Amino acid sequence: MKKTSLLIPIIALMASCAKQECFNEGWRFSLDADSTAAAPDFNDKNWRVLDLPHDWSIEGNFSENNPATPGGGALPGGYGVYRKHFQTPDLTGGKRVYICFDGVYWQSTVYVNGKKAGFRPNGYIGFEYDVTDLLNPKGDNVVAVTVDNTDQPNSRWYSGSGIYRNVRLKVLDQTHFIGQEVFVTANDISAESAKLDVALSVAGDEDCDVKVEILAPGGDVVATAQDKVKAGEVKHFEGIAVNNPKLWSPKSPRVYLARLTAMKGGNVVDEYSTTFGIRYFEFDADKGFSLNGNPMKINGVCNHHDLGALGAAVNHRALERQLEILKNMGCNAIRTSHNPPAPELLNLCDSMGFIVMDEAFDMWARKKSPNDYAKYFAEWHERDLVDFIKRDRNHPSVIMWSIGNEILEQWPDISTDTLSIEKANLMFNFAAQLSQKDDQNKTSEMHVNSLLCKKLVDIVKSIDSTRPVLTGNNETEPHNLLFKSNALDIIGFNYHEYNWGEAFKKKFPGMPLVITESTSALQTRGNYIAPADTQYLWPVRWDIPFETEHHKCSAYDNVRAPWGSTHETTLKEYMKYPWVSGIFVWTGFDYLGEPTPYGWPARSSYFGIIDLAGFPKDVYYLYKSLWTDDLVLHLLPHWNWNEGDTVDVIAYTNMKDVELFLNGESLGKQELKDGNLHLSWKVPFEPGELRAVGHSVDDIEISDVVRTAGAPFRLASSADRYSLAADGQDLSFVTVDVVDAKGVRVPDANNLIKFTVEGPAEIVGMDNGDQCCHESFKGDEHSAFNGKCLCIVRSIADKDGRVVVRASAEGLESSEVEIYTK
Ligand code: GAL
Repeated sequence: MKKTSLLIPIIALMASCAKQECFNEGWRFSLDADSTAAAPDFNDKNWRVLDLPHDWSIEGNFSENNPATPGGGALPGGYGVYRKHFQTPDLTGGKRVYICFDGVYWQSTVYVNGKKAGFRPNGYIGFEYDVTDLLNPKGDNVVAVTVDNTDQPNSRWYSGSGIYRNVRLKVLDQTHFIGQEVFVTANDISAESAKLDVALSVAGDEDCDVKVEILAPGGDVVATAQDKVKAGEVKHFEGIAVNNPKLWSPKSPRVYLARLTAMKGGNVVDEYSTTFGIRYFEFDADKGFSLNGNPMKINGVCNHHDLGALGAAVNHRALERQLEILKNMGCNAIRTSHNPPAPELLNLCDSMGFIVMDEAFDMWARKKSPNDYAKYFAEWHERDLVDFIKRDRNHPSVIMWSIGNEILEQWPDISTDTLSIEKANLMFNFAAQLSQKDDQNKTSEMHVNSLLCKKLVDIVKSIDSTRPVLTGNNETEPHNLLFKSNALDIIGFNYHEYNWGEAFKKKFPGMPLVITESTSALQTRGNYIAPADTQYLWPVRWDIPFETEHHKCSAYDNVRAPWGSTHETTLKEYMKYPWVSGIFVWTGFDYLGEPTPYGWPARSSYFGIIDLAGFPKDVYYLYKSLWTDDLVLHLLPHWNWNEGDTVDVIAYTNMKDVELFLNGESLGKQELKDGNLHLSWKVPFEPGELRAVGHSVDDIEISDVVRTAGAPFRLASSADRYSLAADGQDLSFVTVDVVDAKGVRVPDANNLIKFTVEGPAEIVGMDNGDQCCHESFKGDEHSAFNGKCLCIVRSIADKDGRVVVRASAEGLESSEVEIYTK
């Protein structure tokens, strides 16, 4: 059924269970064990002790020979075993004990006291086991988790390995809320009121009384309801009125709280609290997206889940920092490409104001990598999809469900079995061959792939009918078998910007459009390949291997993959059509793996607007100039060239006009015109200072300067945060610039920097954003790249005090920052 628009009122909540404890501490870990280590009396005394979340791959060394290949990040995989000893909790009154994992990559088996609790192949979805009956009645227990990431490649990007997300232990009364069944929706939303429906279910044998309390963003209880609930039934508390609701939006991410209490005979037996937000939205086939009645564009980026030097091991602050950097650029949406994200990411999107396109799969039954999830799809897709939707359906940030990215079932027959991972990575960006399209056109019955698509949509809708379902498609013609299912609510295009215009409306009448993925331009921070106005297609064709001596790309926004387009070309197309509801640029941050256009020695991607270390590339300011109301003027490139060079100078700006001065001499004033999104000059190089001075329409003056740097002279350190919580989790990201005697950053400096930390903190990662760097992310020294280096410092639990992070390099003056933890 095709729809002209979707008007969807929703209230959502993010789960946070009562009576659960963090189960991350004091695990033992080995990479040399097998499943016999699950035995309760196995001697693990000599195993390494660590706290979760943990990613063992990120600790390893880069090698061309690692089976993940550069496409998977060139880091080691393997088979890991984790063990943890714990005491049987108080089980009086028939309490139940659950161990909950937010994500283990991948093929994990959990044993308690040597008995199997369960196997979960999917590396991204959370799962929990009721282990009550596996516990010793009293005393010591051992939980063992085997993780099998041996057979690779099983991913088109860096996956990480191990228990890389949080683990919790829940001890619940027999009568308790089933967290996954709690679902809150809102109807009749207006400025005056909203009507809530709180659906819930209680486990156990006995009926109970349930109280629902709704707390406004400030904490006041604004509505309550109470009723009897039969054990096992799904109970709806309907029509709970909230007056003057504070609506959720990216600009105003206001979050409510729902507090559920279960009582028996007047005694509280369980509590379950959740946050939620109230909002409604619409995808219109002509007018695009609107939220709470206000038209807006979804200005998003795709991101993979790795956190650079920290690998896949989830960290709240590292995610928050990524979102802060994106927010500052004007980004208001995230696509969780191509898998369920960490719950922490969605909580942050709720509270910081990001719209989320939440994605389930990168493949269905047809594989993209030799050993990927396709082998489990038939048996596991339903369970994984159901768990995913139930886990995430209460987040106000989640606006769209994606059931797949560039699924090979778009076409009737494609075999990737004989392709190398590199070729497969590239091939997925192309439509099927013509002969296959012809076959499709002749087919009148619904193809099995369309039926599969419909089945997946039906699964989603049976759990959550309040959000649209879409897929990211690189086959953008109507004969795409997923489109032919007629089950998708929104057409999602990956790339193909030449198809977003009127042609789209003719081919897909009445359907809304989201650009689920775009761009795939290739950049190395601080590296400029001239001429800036010549576009380089790297690789020239997906099946022709590509090499350069330098293995770099260009920060001029003039290199792109053949299936993609430059940032500027993409943005120009995007802004033309009101029916394009939103865009998700590939990608916000560089990520480990998929180093298109290169193979080894490259090992991380060039696609990011921001590099792997979190340092923005120049094009960041193009987005900022368009996607924020800030006054922006950003000049590039650096100013270290040779006498006789003519340098392509670019300014990203939203100023009315910009005048350029070289050593005080005007080189002319320019205005953005003819639809151009940047200003450009060709400047004969002369050392000194290049200054751009811009005036806004209100005649506010701002400027940007680049200066010729001399030889490296000293280091200059700064931290993103100087005060940390002493919780063993909080991070400070310390940036070190290599500067000359006058403080100008040296644009090609790559000095080796040694870090020391005094006081209650430790180094947990270092990086420089170079896609070809093979130095470890761990340890205490790292090279700078193009004048910059990053050192990530973590607080130590329960230890407060003064921390000094010192950076030194041979022959240079050292620098330090002072951080306080409390
Ligand atoms: C897309 C694909 C992404 C990534 C990107 C690289 O086609 O969906 O996962 O591979 O290409 O350009």
